[in-house]
Amino acid sequence: MIKILFLDQSGQPAGAELCLLDIAKAYRDQCLVGLFADGLFRQLLEENQIPVQVLATQAIAVHKGSGWLQGLSSLRQLLPLAIRVAQLSHHYDVIYANTQKAMVIGTLASILSRRPLVYHLHDILSADHFSSTNRWLAVTLANHYASLVITVSQATQAAFIAAGGRPELSEVVYNGFDPQVYHCDRTQVDTLKQQLGLTGRFVIGHFSRLSPWKGQHILLEALESCSEEVTVLLVGDALFGEQEYVQSLQTQVIERGLQNRVQFLGFRSDIVPLMHVCDLITHTSIAPEPFGRVIVEAMLCGRPVIATQAGGALELSNAGIPYWLVPPGNPTDLAIAINQCQAEWAQVSAIAQQAQLEVSRRFHIDTIRQQIAQLLHRFEPVIDASKTRSTKPVSAS
Ligand code: UDP
Ligand code: GLC
Repeated sequence: MIKILFLDQSGQPAGAELCLLDIAKAYRDQCLVGLFADGLFRQLLEENQIPVQVLATQAIAVHKGSGWLQGLSSLRQLLPLAIRVAQLSHHYDVIYANTQKAMVIGTLASILSRRPLVYHLHDILSADHFSSTNRWLAVTLANHYASLVITVSQATQAAFIAAGGRPELSEVVYNGFDPQVYHCDRTQVDTLKQQLGLTGRFVIGHFSRLSPWKGQHILLEALESCSEEVTVLLVGDALFGEQEYVQSLQTQVIERGLQNRVQFLGFRSDIVPLMHVCDLITHTSIAPEPFGRVIVEAMLCGRPVIATQAGGALELSNAGIPYWLVPPGNPTDLAIAINQCQAEWAQVSAIAQQAQLEVSRRFHIDTIRQQIAQLLHRFEPVIDASKTRSTKPVSAS
């Protein structure tokens, strides 16, 4: 059985980490997840009996927009971490980097320990998301040192190749989900709806971390053109220091007089009942979404979804899964789509049920785990039969 050293820079459970959690569950007896920061993600791994170690005590001072100088100055911090990871990796068959900083450390460790390196790429390597230095670094390290790049969508793969990534390295594997998890008892939903003071309201949910590119401000702007009975639930928090954006959303709500129609629920672990409380779920990213777990999760909950027409979201509709797409960054079109959904409710509900069936089949966690296992198979240690001692009983004759 293959032994895997997973690496992730984050202590917070964003989509890339939740995807890793689902994959690591299948390897819990033969893996370690090394994190470069402590937080709720570590707790989640522990609750799921997945071995985890926090390997860095200080946050790495490089971010998606960093240039060369900042990158070089962080080397003093990166090297000891890489040496630690290299030492650990001697006990594993493969190093599996789940984020970009993990890829940098994973590369150094892979060079030192001569263990193969896999890069699970959850990001679209475009100017919308990364500085040119960061794009160059990700692609150059992948091209020279990775044995496999798993991309979370065709859009992610296309961006990797457009940025100079070697096409033959990359394989698309979508995120996987257990459809059972997304069912919910009606009484629990009614109670929660009542507790939130939403009985009788038409509830629109938004379930992303609060970050400018996730476009929560677009939904708030669209809300002004929706009927008075509409309430918006913003579920999620600023996971990576976007406090200014949170402040700007709160100001937007006050200035537009939307206080009675918007609730900020912060980061929640009870996503499933909350999605069931919603009549409609919107995804409003203004930059192409690499995959967009929330879109599939909303569909698994049987909710109608309106998403922005870019990145991974487009692949669902190209695959024939029915839902509504609007142009990114356009509150007018979003409001029109919301109002239409509200007006044509019977038809909208039927379409949501059809989407639920489709996604349950296409994104089933078992299928995705099988795909990952097949891709990792090549890194399994080869057992040399001539060196293994025979266990055949010796005949007494
Ligand atoms: N999520 C959560 N609690 C929240 C908000 C979001 O658990 O309060 C989860 C959500 O259910 C989804 C993930 O966070 O599984 C976000 O993943 P997605 O791919 O949509 O976006 P990302 O944050 O990775 O860009
Ligand atoms: C990243 C992406 C998101 C994707 C998730 C899981 O966090 O931003 O689009 O769904 O990883 O792959």
